Amino acid sequence: MSLQAIIYNLDGLFVLDQLLLPHQHKYVPVKTIEDSFSVIKKMQVRGAPAIGIVAALSVAVGLRNLGEGEDAKHFVIDSLEHLKESRPTAVNLFEAAHQLQNVARSVHPSQVKEKVIQEAEAILDKDLRDNHAIGAAGRQFLLDHYKGTKSKLTVLTHCNTGSLATSGYGTALGVIRALHENGNLEHAFCTETRPYNQGSRLTAFELVHDRIPATLVTDSTAASIMNKIDAIVVGADRVTRNGDTANKIGTLNLAVLANYFNIPFIVAAPFSSIDLNLASGSQITIEQRPSIEMITVRGPVVKNSNATEFGKDERIHIAAPGINTYCPAFDVTPAKLIAAVATEKGYYTATKEKFSFTDSPELA
Ligand code: MRU
Repeated sequence: MSLQAIIYNLDGLFVLDQLLLPHQHKYVPVKTIEDSFSVIKKMQVRGAPAIGIVAALSVAVGLRNLGEGEDAKHFVIDSLEHLKESRPTAVNLFEAAHQLQNVARSVHPSQVKEKVIQEAEAILDKDLRDNHAIGAAGRQFLLDHYKGTKSKLTVLTHCNTGSLATSGYGTALGVIRALHENGNLEHAFCTETRPYNQGSRLTAFELVHDRIPATLVTDSTAASIMNKIDAIVVGADRVTRNGDTANKIGTLNLAVLANYFNIPFIVAAPFSSIDLNLASGSQITIEQRPSIEMITVRGPVVKNSNATEFGKDERIHIAAPGINTYCPAFDVTPAKLIAAVATEKGYYTATKEKFSFTDSPELA
């Protein structure tokens, strides 16, 4: 089965429906801006870079289908304003929107279609290149950290930051891939990542697919295995100017653990995930998800004694009816708990518990 979350070619734009993985492998066509809004909001496609890429490419598809005489500039600007409403936390969507809207505003009206399509396609291509560089930078930080003492590491990751969350390879999972490809990975652990289960459904799927030695643990097991772990590597939805990082709910728990057990906690993300407009994490909008995602799980629905079938919208309740819920999608880890931020430019470390993101990281 393919690990490609996004297919974009002359036939159009398709996303792998991540609500159905790992049981079903089905691509959903994204033909309109409304389709794009829906697949992002419902989390059929998810992961900060993938969300930005799908938003951008759906505008490219929309431009291709635009009728004679329709106003391309306003289509681009309005579509992206709308798509920005789909999920608020990951900066990548806002960054992609900003980039494409700028192009639409700055070029001659006759050029909008061609130039915006080019820009959208460039976002897709750049992401894949950057992910390999992020993987290399994260691996380098860990090797530098353990210089001379360890060259094979056991790493824990949270959520899904791999091919399924990006154009390919991944960010934090890219660091694990880079360690593995270079003989530096002893073992990977991934957390389930309740309630959407990005870890058990998606990261575990990628690790098995790539034959990377790995073990799945429940989120609440993490503290009890810290004696086996050499580093924790996670992705990011938004990193602020000082290094505070919003990422999947449960990331903060792991950062606290890493610091208590004195192992490096690192964030791996494209440089564009760093929102230099925000001074600190308290300014990040945290998305709340509907409680149904916490209080129910999807099938299987047992149809008879031999066969199971996954009903389209069949959900099994796993919580007491009537209980109040609180379901934030992300939390914010303060910069002082983060040992390094690995980007495609290299890795950054903090000075006096603050990061300073310039064009010259420690490893260029
Ligand atoms: O709610 P999700 O699945 O979109 O959240 C994903 C994460 O938190 C990832 O860690 C982050 O987006 C980085 S993906 C390379």
